[in-house]
Amino acid sequence: MAATGFVLAIDQGTTSTRAIVFDRDGKPISVARREFPQHYPADGWVEHDLEDIWRDTVSVLREAVAQAGLQPSDIAAIGITNQRETTALWDRRTGEPVHRAIVWQDRRTADHCRRLIADGAQPLVRERTGLLIDSYFSATKLAWLLARVPGARERAERGELAFGTIDSFLLHRLTGGAVHATDATNASRTMLFDIRRQVWDEELLRLFGVPRAVLPTVLDSSAEFGATTADLLGRPIPIAGIAGDQQAAMFGQACFEPGMVKSTYGTGCFALLNTGDQPVDSRANLLSTVACRLDGKTTYALEGSIFIAGAAIKWLRDGLGIITHASQTDDLATRVPDSHGVYLVPAFVGLGAPHWQPDARAAITGLTLDAGPAHIARAALEAVAFQTRDLLEAMNADWPQPLKALRVDGGMAANDWLCQFLADTLDTVVERPAVIETTALGAAALAGLKVGVVADRAALAAAWNCERRFEPRMDPEKRARLYAGWLDAVERVKGARG
Ligand code: G3P
Repeated sequence: MAATGFVLAIDQGTTSTRAIVFDRDGKPISVARREFPQHYPADGWVEHDLEDIWRDTVSVLREAVAQAGLQPSDIAAIGITNQRETTALWDRRTGEPVHRAIVWQDRRTADHCRRLIADGAQPLVRERTGLLIDSYFSATKLAWLLARVPGARERAERGELAFGTIDSFLLHRLTGGAVHATDATNASRTMLFDIRRQVWDEELLRLFGVPRAVLPTVLDSSAEFGATTADLLGRPIPIAGIAGDQQAAMFGQACFEPGMVKSTYGTGCFALLNTGDQPVDSRANLLSTVACRLDGKTTYALEGSIFIAGAAIKWLRDGLGIITHASQTDDLATRVPDSHGVYLVPAFVGLGAPHWQPDARAAITGLTLDAGPAHIARAALEAVAFQTRDLLEAMNADWPQPLKALRVDGGMAANDWLCQFLADTLDTVVERPAVIETTALGAAALAGLKVGVVADRAALAAAWNCERRFEPRMDPEKRARLYAGWLDAVERVKGARG
């Protein structure tokens, strides 16, 4: 970033809410973070309490500014980035949610999706939205809320309710209820948005039974979204950037040229390939999505979405209890020379790309009597790399040019062992940037662009710094053998689905 001023990024993720202040050079100078409760009311259901998210957002914002030793007047703008698809519905006037948010991982609408596919809706959805019909996206979650929350449909039709992804909910709250908007990247994840024409699609609204009155206005990712109420940070601060977290990470990784790929390792793992000014019709079960929209010009991406990456490590801690802290995984996993034929297929909430099987469930295969916690921990880490390879193989099928190096970020990318295993498994150079907070950086950069703290995309690309390159060095025979074992384990999980 150039010129003067600091930018504050809100990164509202699946398990935590963070605020990060970036200086004019794009360096994070303070970070505040809160983890919040997950609600699992039934098998395959995942919900978030929107009041938890709001309360945490306010506290982390204030804490990050105080920690940085700044005055509110030092903050030039706020950028928001968020877990995508998670569906919120609230009262437009009071801001009160009508239900807990239904999280992207939630599978309650899998049957609805199956019915839509059986009725032949897939080609229409695919053509308009670039997505595949799946309970991952917002449309069927919103349909569920409208059908199941007493009175919701009538209130929605009367224009009393507002729908949005988390960015939209936060924007509404931060502006004291003045603004109901979202950006094109978040809109592209709802399954209601025509990604070519950049409008809410009437036919899809009819298909999912969504009244137009609930929808937010869709703006560029770098835009004048509104300003915070003065009581929040002592003076109104412009909100000038919004993007879904994966798209924000792509922006923060400066993947501005077609053919550039990034992969982010958070709760899930999401690999995005820049395909330029045209969406690609995937033949390999990937998604086409909006990478960003600036000055009305849309850049598209091919996306591979895996639902569980870091969440598998959380499970080792909270479910299996073989570690007490996520950072121990590394130690445990490297205590053994290999996984001893053990594979962990982390289909805890079904399988995402390129399989799309909502009913698949996780499994550990290849267990023998001498397998122990270290092998399972190692298998959990290795699964992240194997799943990334599944995605890159699919991308290679859709995209004629060979993929350039893979840029990685997110919490797990700090793990050297994992980055090396990733390079070995993919047989591709893996690049890790100096600023690993790329999701928040991307949101800050989008906001900074609007208010003049960032000159242009070229300045961001020039500022992108590689901290470490991981070169593939695994013997090809071993690479092939390990991956073949993974494919076999995945087939077993698919075969065993309910
Ligand atoms: O599509 C879901 C994604 O946006 C969630 O990201 O970082 O919370 O795993 P994360």
